[in-house]
Amino acid sequence: MSGMLGITGVTRMMMQMPKVVKMGLSKTAASLGRVKPQHGRMFLHQKSLARLPIPPLQQTLYRYLLSVEPLLSKEDFETTKKVVEDFGKPNGVGQRLQMALVKRAKKLDNWLSQWWLSVAYLEFRSPVVVNVSPGIVCPRENINSESDQLKFASKFISGVLDFKHLIDTNSLPVDQMGGQPLCMDQYYKVLAACRIPGPRKDDLVFYPPNKPDAPKHIIVAHKNHFYTVDVMDKEGVPLTLSQLYSQLKFVLEASTQPEIPVGLLTTAHRNTWGKVYKRLNKDPTNAKSFDNIKRAIFLLCLDSSSSQTEQNFSAHVARQALYGGGSGSNSGNRWYDKTIQFFVSPNGGTGLTYEHSGAEGPPIISLVDHTLAYAHSIADDFNAMTVDAPAPKKLNFNLDLDALDTIEEAKQEIDSLAGDLQLTILPFKHYGKDFPKSQKLSPDAFIQIAIQLTYYKIYGRSAATYESASLRKYQYGRTDTIRSASIASNAFCKAMEESGTKPSEKAMLFRKAILSHKEYTNLAINGDGIDRHLLGLKLIAIEQGENVPDLFMDTAYTQSSHFNVSTSQVPAKHDLVMCFGPVVPDGYGICYNPRQNHLNFAVSAFNTSPETDSDVFAKRLSESLLEIRDVLESAPPTAKL
Ligand code: COA
Repeated sequence: MSGMLGITGVTRMMMQMPKVVKMGLSKTAASLGRVKPQHGRMFLHQKSLARLPIPPLQQTLYRYLLSVEPLLSKEDFETTKKVVEDFGKPNGVGQRLQMALVKRAKKLDNWLSQWWLSVAYLEFRSPVVVNVSPGIVCPRENINSESDQLKFASKFISGVLDFKHLIDTNSLPVDQMGGQPLCMDQYYKVLAACRIPGPRKDDLVFYPPNKPDAPKHIIVAHKNHFYTVDVMDKEGVPLTLSQLYSQLKFVLEASTQPEIPVGLLTTAHRNTWGKVYKRLNKDPTNAKSFDNIKRAIFLLCLDSSSSQTEQNFSAHVARQALYGGGSGSNSGNRWYDKTIQFFVSPNGGTGLTYEHSGAEGPPIISLVDHTLAYAHSIADDFNAMTVDAPAPKKLNFNLDLDALDTIEEAKQEIDSLAGDLQLTILPFKHYGKDFPKSQKLSPDAFIQIAIQLTYYKIYGRSAATYESASLRKYQYGRTDTIRSASIASNAFCKAMEESGTKPSEKAMLFRKAILSHKEYTNLAINGDGIDRHLLGLKLIAIEQGENVPDLFMDTAYTQSSHFNVSTSQVPAKHDLVMCFGPVVPDGYGICYNPRQNHLNFAVSAFNTSPETDSDVFAKRLSESLLEIRDVLESAPPTAKL
């Protein structure tokens, strides 16, 4: 397929890209006072970014033991200690694998990234919906009519194209963390990108802007129809707002009756969808439609209204964002393989879902923040105008009986998933990240320890907890894990639950737990985390045809990687929240956006687990946050931790 490249190939090519694609939006952006394109600055630091290091073996093993101690009985811990010692002994398995890993790292820009892409994403066979693809709930828009819906959608498209222009001209300001530049590569994997299903492993493709056949269209979904809609003219100049509006109106008027929900195929188990896709793709009409979707800059879903009560509006939109709300709602009005899908509803609910393979939340949030700021600042210029672009074209699909059966099964599965997923949105209004800062504490560590306390209060123990840590200070870096349950957090939780602990002692233990969390965070973001290193040692053993070492068969490894609590901080300039599903059947998925004066949380759980309840967790989390504030206010802040 022309223009389709593997990830590394395209990345290298983009980074060397000498030419600037000429597009018309820079004028608009400049006149609106937004980020001015500064060609080339996006990769100013790229070449000087360090390569992801491999931590010393003994350091990882030592820290691994520290991380499993609060989760194990004394007996199990002693057994694990022996397994770890054996793995790490001089000239043992661990050392041999470590040497092989170091050898691999010398040959690659990033020893982990291709492995991670395969293991964490492309080889993952469960449906991407809820299990992999996060949703983002944007603030409610003032939409009261179909015309409002189309106007906002037009502004939104315009905003995304403005951001795309910054990417295409390498003009985005370099992201930073703690004053250090981050790898910007993920931005190329966000727009004009798509996951392709395979019978055993998926693929990821994207289409660069500096090719003669660079995509100039988006896909608009309405009532399960998919239309290819040009959003730029032949020269690559984006259409005006009123032209975009006309294009969208065309789609709306041409798709009044619901279509067969072919998009539901993308919600199926990956092996199932992979097989169906392979067969359907042999038909030229289908192949053309698939190709149009793959190449599209993004997917815009003009959703239909569905009943919801005002009381739980955010939770309703979160469901729309995660899985489209169910087969009777908008689940068929999606194409879950597409990297970016925005939706705009007639009731003002807006947001997106993204396919996670190519990028983490922060680049997606940059896109959303930019687009919302653009959409809210651009003038309402919807004067009638002729459209200098082809009219939208409906994508047709020739579906065989087997595909129709798969759609029926997918319908049932998505509805059963919908019924199983419990989702609670908690806007915690009592304070925001300014409070921990006033206490000289890291807000992220503060929230993590509050989550620990909440779990402990409900279950009387600590559980394996995952927090995403960015590895983007390294070339092509993705994430490592911060194991948030620590000896120190466990001690704090225990003290909080024991009657008779003085507030000053509670405060002291809380600060210690924060310190311990911050220390782990620093290790993880500096390439000294333990999870990706251990994964590397396991994968290199497999690659070399060796038996998987005992360390990975030990209960401690299984238990400490069974993340009952999977968390991520995804901060944004807008008052939004990201949400995702739990990663284990008896777990919680918790995402948060710490704002200055309030904290947005999304908590998920599965109803089929009798042990979990997201409503209860969110309620208890709110109580924990208040309790911690009381404790801290009764003891004066000490030095900055
Ligand atoms: N006293 C006062 N202020 C403090 C402080 C202290 N002791 N410690 C930190 N702060 C301030 C920081 O300066 C920062 O200020 P800002 O709001 O002006 O930027 C703010 O508090 C936030 O810092 P902190 O809460 O410590 O978190 P962080 O921003 O360093 O984030 C991680 C920590 C782990 C979330 C981050 O390193 C990371 O890796 N993020 C990416 C995660 C990711 O990829 N998620 C998506 C997965 S899909």
